[in-house]
Amino acid sequence: MSKPVRVAILFSGRGSNMETLAQHLAKPDVPGQFVLGVSNRPEAGGVGFCTRANIPCAVIDHKAYDTREDFEADMQKALASARIDLICAAGFMRLLTPEFVTHWHNRIINIHPSLLPAYKGLNTHKRALDDGAKQHGCSVHYMRAEMDDGPVIVQKHVPVHADDTPDTLATRVLAQEHVAYPEALDIVLEKLASQQP
Ligand code: GRF
Repeated sequence: MSKPVRVAILFSGRGSNMETLAQHLAKPDVPGQFVLGVSNRPEAGGVGFCTRANIPCAVIDHKAYDTREDFEADMQKALASARIDLICAAGFMRLLTPEFVTHWHNRIINIHPSLLPAYKGLNTHKRALDDGAKQHGCSVHYMRAEMDDGPVIVQKHVPVHADDTPDTLATRVLAQEHVAYPEALDIVLEKLASQQP
C-alpha cells in the first residue's frame, strides 16, 4: 500500500473547515494524514483546535516579518520539516506569492465561498445579495498565482432566499463548504496517493 499523503492545513480564523478536514483525514480509509496546522494569526480559534486534537501547529505571525518573502520562507521551513505533500488552505487570509504557489503547483488547494469564477475576493455573500443572485455557493480549487483562480475541483450550489442576509447566506454556504472540502480532498488524495513511492 502507498504511504499516506502528508497534509498541512493553513488557516487564519475559527478553523471550522480545518476541523472538518481533520475529521475526514482521521478516517482509516482516507489515504492522507493531517500532520501540521499553520496559522498566521496567534489568536485564531483553530490554534486551540490543533492543541486539543494533539496536532502540531506552526504559528507564524505575519506581523513579525518585514516582507512577505521572509514570512513565506519560515512557512516553507515548517512545511519542509514536516515533509508535507499537500497543502489545504482553509480560511487562510494572506495572499501567497506566485513563487510560493508555483512551488506547490497542484499540491495546494483552497476553498472559496462563491461559485468561482464569480465573486473572487472578499465579502462574497453581500456581493451576491447586492447583485440579486439566485444561486450562490462555494468552490474548492487548485491554487494558482492569481487570487481565487485555478481549476475547480468541487462546487456546491446554494439557493439564495428572498429574506437572506449576508449572515444567513454565509451559514448555509458554510454547511456546504463542509461537504465540498472533504469531497475535493478525496479527489486530490486519490491522485497524489497513486503517485506516492
Ligand atoms: C470560509 O467561509 C472560507 O470559505 C473562507 O473563510 C471562511 C473560513 O471559515 N475562505 P473557517 O475558519 O474554516 O470556519
